[in-house]
Amino acid sequence: MEQIAAVLGEKGLIADPDEMTPFVTDFRGRMVGAADVVALPGTTEEVAAVVAIAREHGTAIFPLGGNTGLCCGAVPTVPAGRPALVLGLGRLNALRAVDRSANVITVEAGMTLARVRELAAAEGRRFPLRLGSEGTAQIGGLLSTNAGGTGALRYGPMRDLVCGIEAVLPDGRIFRDLNALRKDNTGYDLKHLLIGAEGTLGVVTAAALRLHQPIRSRAHGWISLAGPAAAVELLSRLQDRCGDSIETFEMLNGAEVDCVLQHIPRARLPFEATPAWSVMIELGHSDPDAGLNAALEAVMADALEAGLADDAVIAQNETQAQEIWHIRHSVTEAHRIDGVGIVHDIAVPTSAVPAFIAAADEMSAKRFREARVLVVSHLGDGNVHYTLMFPHAYWQSLPVCEAKALEVEQAVHDIAVGFGGTISAEHGIGRKLTSELERLGDPVKLAVMRTIKRALDPENMMNPGALVA
Ligand code: LAC
Ligand code: ZN
Repeated sequence: MEQIAAVLGEKGLIADPDEMTPFVTDFRGRMVGAADVVALPGTTEEVAAVVAIAREHGTAIFPLGGNTGLCCGAVPTVPAGRPALVLGLGRLNALRAVDRSANVITVEAGMTLARVRELAAAEGRRFPLRLGSEGTAQIGGLLSTNAGGTGALRYGPMRDLVCGIEAVLPDGRIFRDLNALRKDNTGYDLKHLLIGAEGTLGVVTAAALRLHQPIRSRAHGWISLAGPAAAVELLSRLQDRCGDSIETFEMLNGAEVDCVLQHIPRARLPFEATPAWSVMIELGHSDPDAGLNAALEAVMADALEAGLADDAVIAQNETQAQEIWHIRHSVTEAHRIDGVGIVHDIAVPTSAVPAFIAAADEMSAKRFREARVLVVSHLGDGNVHYTLMFPHAYWQSLPVCEAKALEVEQAVHDIAVGFGGTISAEHGIGRKLTSELERLGDPVKLAVMRTIKRALDPENMMNPGALVA
C-alpha cells in the first residue's frame, strides 16, 4: 500500500472500507466483493506502475469503469488470503485528440460515454453508441465488455467503433496502438483481443474511436402491433423502404412498458392503453431534407392497412421523441426497483425471434409461474432481453436464490442455443455466466481462450474469476 501511495499520492488511493463499498459492489446489489485497496491512477504511466507493484506482491487486479455492467464482471472476488486491488479508471478521463478529417476522437478510458458524445458533437461529428447508462458508463468498460445498445443495429457494437487502443498488459508493459489508422495489416490485431476481454488480459487506458457524420433529420415512431412476428415483418418493410436510415428498432412487450410506467418518474404513455407488443423506431439521416417523417408515416400507414399494426404515433417534436426514448432507456432502472429480475441477453437470428419468444413463454408459464415475463429486444440484432421478474417476497422465501437463478438461466439459454443463438449478445460473461459459458460454449473456443489467457497473464492477476474462470 505504501508503494502505491508513493506513486499515486493521497487522492489516488482509498483504503477505508466504507469508502470502498461502492467500488466493490455490483450496482444492482447482486454481488458484493472485497478488496484491500482502491487505486485511482490519473495517467497511463501510473496504471503501469500500479500493475507492476501488484505483480510484485501477487495482488489480483480488478479494473473498474462506471460500474454499470450487468454481469458482475468488475466485482472483486478472490480466494481468501490473496490480496486484491480495485483499479478505478475514473480519474484517467482526458480528451487526447480529435481528428476531423480522419473522423477519430482519442480519449482516455475513464471518460463517460455521454462526454464523448458531447465532445464529438462540439466538433460537428457523432459517436453513435447509445445506451441507458451513458452518463456513467466509461469508455474503458464499454470496450472491455464490447457494449452494444440501441445504436448497434446501424453502427455495430463498441468493437466496430474503435480504430486503436492503448492498454497496460498484465506484466506492466504499455501496448500503444493509437495511430488511428483505418488500414493496418501487420498481423494479429491485439486491440480486438482486448475488446470484450472484460479486463482479463490487461487494462484499457485509452482508445481512438470512430466518429460518424451528425444526424440532421430524424423521425421517431412508436407502433402498437400484434406480436413479435408482426414486428419482424414491419422491420423487413422498413428496410425495403429506408434501410439505410434505420437508427434504432426496439421491440417491447406490455409488461416491460408497464414496469417503466410504474416506477420511473416522467414516464408518459402516448397511447390510451399499454400495447401488448410494440416497436419504437428512430430513423436518421445526415441530409436535413431526407423526408424521414414522410417515409415513416408511409410505412406506418402500410402496416396499419395490412393489419400488421393496430395503432401508431409519430413524435411531432423533440419533447415527444424524448418521451419515447426515456421509456426505452429506463428499463434497467425500473427492473431494479420492481423486483428480482433474471435478465437474459440472448441473441438468435432475427427471423427466429418470434419462435424463441413463444418457446420461452411456454417454458416460463410451465416452470416459473411466480414470475412475470418482461421483454425488450434490439430486434434488428436478434438480441432479446427476456426477463423473468420475481416479486421480492417470493425470492426472499427461497432457500437458495442462486440455484433458482441458475435454473431460470439454463432453461432460457437452452432454448436460445436450440435456435442457433448465443447466451450473451452484448452484456458479456462477467462472473454471472462463467458456468453457462462452460456448459454451452464451443469447447475449442474455450480451450483457445484459456491458452491466450495463460500466455498473457500466467499468474492470473487480471480480473480473476471473470470470463474464463
Ligand atoms: C438494454 C440493456 C438491458 O438494452 O442492455 O436496456
Ligand atoms: Zn440491451
